[in-house]
Amino acid sequence: MTDTLRLSDFPSWRELQALAAQMQGTTIAALFSRDPQRATEFTASAAGLTLDYSKHLLCRDSRAALLRLAEQAQLPLRAGQLLAGTPLNNTESRPALHTLLRARTAPTGLNAEFSAVEDTRQRMRLWCDRINGGHLLGHSGAPIRDVVNIGIGGSDLGPRLVTGALAAFQGPVRCHYVANVDPADLHYTLQRLDPGSTLFILCSKSFRTEETLANGVAARDWLLAAGVTAEDMQRHFLAITTNLEAAADFGVPAENCLPLWDWVGGRYSLWSAVGLSAAIAIGWDNFSGLLSGAEEMDKHFSSANIAHNLPMLMSLLEIWYCNFFAAGNQVVLPYDQGLAQLPDFLQQLTMESNGKRVTRDGEPLDYDSAPVLWGSAGTMGQHSFHQLLHQGTRLCPADFILPLTTPLVDDGRHRMLVANGLAQSRTLMIGRSEDEARASLLERGLENAEADRLAAHLAMPGNRPSSVITLDAVTPQGLGALLALYEHRTFCSGQLWGINSFDQWGVELGKEIGSAILKRLEQADSPQNMDAATERLLGEWRAAQKRRAPPRED
Ligand code: F6P
Repeated sequence: MTDTLRLSDFPSWRELQALAAQMQGTTIAALFSRDPQRATEFTASAAGLTLDYSKHLLCRDSRAALLRLAEQAQLPLRAGQLLAGTPLNNTESRPALHTLLRARTAPTGLNAEFSAVEDTRQRMRLWCDRINGGHLLGHSGAPIRDVVNIGIGGSDLGPRLVTGALAAFQGPVRCHYVANVDPADLHYTLQRLDPGSTLFILCSKSFRTEETLANGVAARDWLLAAGVTAEDMQRHFLAITTNLEAAADFGVPAENCLPLWDWVGGRYSLWSAVGLSAAIAIGWDNFSGLLSGAEEMDKHFSSANIAHNLPMLMSLLEIWYCNFFAAGNQVVLPYDQGLAQLPDFLQQLTMESNGKRVTRDGEPLDYDSAPVLWGSAGTMGQHSFHQLLHQGTRLCPADFILPLTTPLVDDGRHRMLVANGLAQSRTLMIGRSEDEARASLLERGLENAEADRLAAHLAMPGNRPSSVITLDAVTPQGLGALLALYEHRTFCSGQLWGINSFDQWGVELGKEIGSAILKRLEQADSPQNMDAATERLLGEWRAAQKRRAPPRED
């Protein structure tokens, strides 16, 4: 017995299957010819962002059917429940209240949570101002100049993305990010830093994450080796966590700890004290701008009707391709160097949230859930994987993210960047027929026979869908709105698939097995208890240790 409706239970499911089949007989270019208003009619704006979804395999009828699906799934009601703190995370019996972290007023019934958020915001602001004002002194009396955020997953990707994306707003203190337990990550970061003026932020919701704790210990050893005494150590560490006790055990005093709460999911936690390193990098006012941009998107999400609701429209497109065109992936192409980390951030957001195989009630899904998300900043991808986008055999629906201006002087290169982004989206749609390819080869002076031989290789099917999301510039507000847009899209898709987007049980077993294997690596004579392949690899590791060159000292 199940309470959760599956996507395939909704009345629109069969209708959408039929409409998707009909779309096979048409092209996006033909949809434009038939519908002159399409470019404007398939565009929606909110919070400084414009979503152009006109270049999709979507006609007015199929869009109407998708909108009906959203109504049947009661997406507006679900959006309201999310923001009101309904415990939607049913496997962990808690709400997912990331929207509260950017709210300026307390939603009904959430006064206590809101005042804890406000209190923490005040403390974040004080730390930002103190550090950026040069008033936080390291053990030798030198002001802190570098901040190293040690965290992983949601305790890393969000602040790392914001710091990079808003480099134009960079203040006097530089922020660095160390996530990987590979010693190289911390080692090469610290190589450039002075222990006397470096502050570490141990960022871990649970304060139990192996990678973060191990890197924290190594950071402390680096400071000890530089002569920092145990008493002075607290000048060099802050902690962001729900687990204040574990932070205290590590040696971070309560006044250096900023809290977060179990109702904030790691991948949704950028807006909490987890964002402190980013707030230091860009300054409090700009971080505050990031929060207001996200809040504006929250308001849009919870009030705009479905037909104009950006997160809902984007989610319906995700469902359309994933479940009715069998597209197993989605590519995100930010035409902005600062947003180069966006695909990484979105991978955790979408795949950890919606990479699930059962409904909220534990019933197996009879359709696909989250597609594989990938991508990189334009124009680099054009010289690498765009070949597959244009001529490969797979359907890869694309999101182009296109800031229209640069904060730097445009000596012509930003225009080139924009031209490339627009060109890629248009080329994916129009493609080039074999006849056109042949004609262009003849124009280039090739002989008929050579043109005939090469035409099929130059032909491009086109009809490949993409959205273009534009914003005037990557400002704190614009970035906040963009990230909240993807958060809400993820939530809507989870609702349509009938899954819980806020847990991540699938990562646990690997951690347990990792600990068991680590024990085996540490104890040479431990009895064999793994499968034959793992045992062979353990042996290979042992042999490599014996052959190993002396470690580097630099
Ligand atoms: O292992 C997955 C995960 O739990 C993510 O959900 C989370 O963002 C990351 O690890 C880091 O967790 P923490 O902030 O507790 O160190």
